[in-house]
Amino acid sequence: MSAQIIGGYFSSHVPGIGGAIARGDQSQPYWKPFFDGYPPVRQWLAQARPDVAIVFYNDHGLNFFLDAMPTFAVGAAADYPNEDEGWGLPVYKTFQGDPALSWHIIEELVGSGFDVTMCQKMKVDHALSIPFELAYPDVAAWPVKIVPIAINTVQYPLPSPQRCYDLGRAVHRALQSWQDDTRVVVIGSGGLSHQLDGSRAGFINADYDRFCLDHLANEPEALLRHSTEEVAAIAGTQGVEIVNWIAARGALGQGPQAEVTRNYHIPISNTAAATLVLAPA
Ligand code: DHB
Ligand code: FE
Repeated sequence: MSAQIIGGYFSSHVPGIGGAIARGDQSQPYWKPFFDGYPPVRQWLAQARPDVAIVFYNDHGLNFFLDAMPTFAVGAAADYPNEDEGWGLPVYKTFQGDPALSWHIIEELVGSGFDVTMCQKMKVDHALSIPFELAYPDVAAWPVKIVPIAINTVQYPLPSPQRCYDLGRAVHRALQSWQDDTRVVVIGSGGLSHQLDGSRAGFINADYDRFCLDHLANEPEALLRHSTEEVAAIAGTQGVEIVNWIAARGALGQGPQAEVTRNYHIPISNTAAATLVLAPA
């Protein structure tokens, strides 16, 4: 037996998107080109019917703060609440976990040399909630369970793109040895290029973004050439959130991927916003 990996869903997670949803601004001129990227994602999810989502994201200070920052943290909780993060957003619905699958993944990761932090209590922030709000609007309860995997993109030193890809590949091995045929979607949250503060606040690099979008499916090695510091220089200090996409791509496995849908829109707040779905070709 093994889990069935139905594909990967990649999305930006700008908190302002949550504000737009709360106000019902999806068809306003500023927001429409961004939200138009999501009906194809919803259609694909409705047809692919995942049971569980493995979510690679970065926590922005809700669960981990600078005083204690794990490089890689894996949730092993029965549920994962959201909380007020101070963005003026609604508190989002609690996510249900899959502790047995979490522990299986943790065992594979530690066995592979990834000494992850194990979290039996874990709050999840906008980086996890916003992609779900976009994919499953207006549901009473989230239709999938989650295994959250938080990667530090906040406090130096940061893990490299190569290391995050290898983490994803180890998650893939765990899914291949899972006990049943659970349908799994892999999610990469964050990016693309953005910088929120400092003299380059508002910096965006559309060339790098397109390079990532063009190569993630079938030449992900191209994204591993850069160090994290190089990515920060090329894509902005918060552009390093691309490592969540890279880890998620690793978890999809090495088979060829088809691009189901893609959207790219500059800017949403300070961010080059992107949406992508890949499925085994
Ligand atoms: C913005 C982008 C982010 O990735 C984030 O976590 C917070 C804010 C922004 O562009 O406003
Ligand atoms: Fe972010």
